[in-house]
Amino acid sequence: MDARIAASSLDRSDPTEHSREPASADAALIELSGVSREYLIGGGRVSALESVDLRVAAGEFVVVLGPSGSGKTTLLNLIGALDTPTAGRILVAGCELTRASASELIRFRRHAVSFIFQTFNLFPSLTALENVRFGLDVSGVSAGADRARELLARVGLRDRLSHFPHELSGGEQQRVAVARALATGNPVMLADEPTGELDFETGRGILGLLQEQVGSGRAVLVVTHNREIARAADRVVELSGGRVIADGPNDSGRRPLSELRW
Ligand SMILES: Nc1ncnc2c1ncn2[C@@H]1O[C@H](COP(=O)(O)OP(=O)(O)O)[C@@H](O)[C@H]1O
Ligand SMILES: [Mg+2]
Repeated sequence: MDARIAASSLDRSDPTEHSREPASADAALIELSGVSREYLIGGGRVSALESVDLRVAAGEFVVVLGPSGSGKTTLLNLIGALDTPTAGRILVAGCELTRASASELIRFRRHAVSFIFQTFNLFPSLTALENVRFGLDVSGVSAGADRARELLARVGLRDRLSHFPHELSGGEQQRVAVARALATGNPVMLADEPTGELDFETGRGILGLLQEQVGSGRAVLVVTHNREIARAADRVVELSGGRVIADGPNDSGRRPLSELRW
């Protein structure tokens, strides 16, 4: 699957279809060239990202590692078309975000990316089950309640289907957010500190689910400050002060999840 095929897949009636295509080694699903994001604040300038080049292929699990304030959330927001860069070019799933029309961006957000937000962003007036069904509806997947139940069971929430977000712990809300993102079948999965609220045993389970996604030709990009999470990745990109300071294969090779602990 190359970027052009990924682009045409956005026009299909079944947006999950492409995720069953085999991944080819060189299919870039995410491509950033010279991307910067500056904020003007109180007469001063904050450079959240500076000249970032990044390429993630279909079938790759990449962890972006960096301390708080290094630009991780800014990076994910740009890739997910929730923000626009002040310089550079961003191509995701065949859509050039920096040139796309408003209607192309709407289609892109529904059918190209799945987001696991740092603050979960669940709908407070929908139950766990309804939040996940909403993820299915938005991306046009018709599988409905059974699929939503199955996904919630996979994240260990079989007994929490009818709970509202305020009736769930932070870690449980995070798992609902993961189930909702998995529901879409979109080719690019973006996760902001997806294990931040989780003990390492639950966190390992979530990482396992994210690892599985790349098998179906998705690209998974996880940002975190937690170095231990990086051991689950194929490739680790290090961010510091808005710049990429390292980018390479996971030195020690993917560690078995059972060895991870934090
Ligand atoms: N909306 C904003 N306005 C001004 N500065 C911001 C805004 N969002 C983020 N920043 C700044 O950009 C830098 C990177 O932030 P962020 O991407 O949230 O980092 P991280 O997710 O790695 O903690 C930080 O210095 C932060 O204060
Ligand atoms: Mg952040």
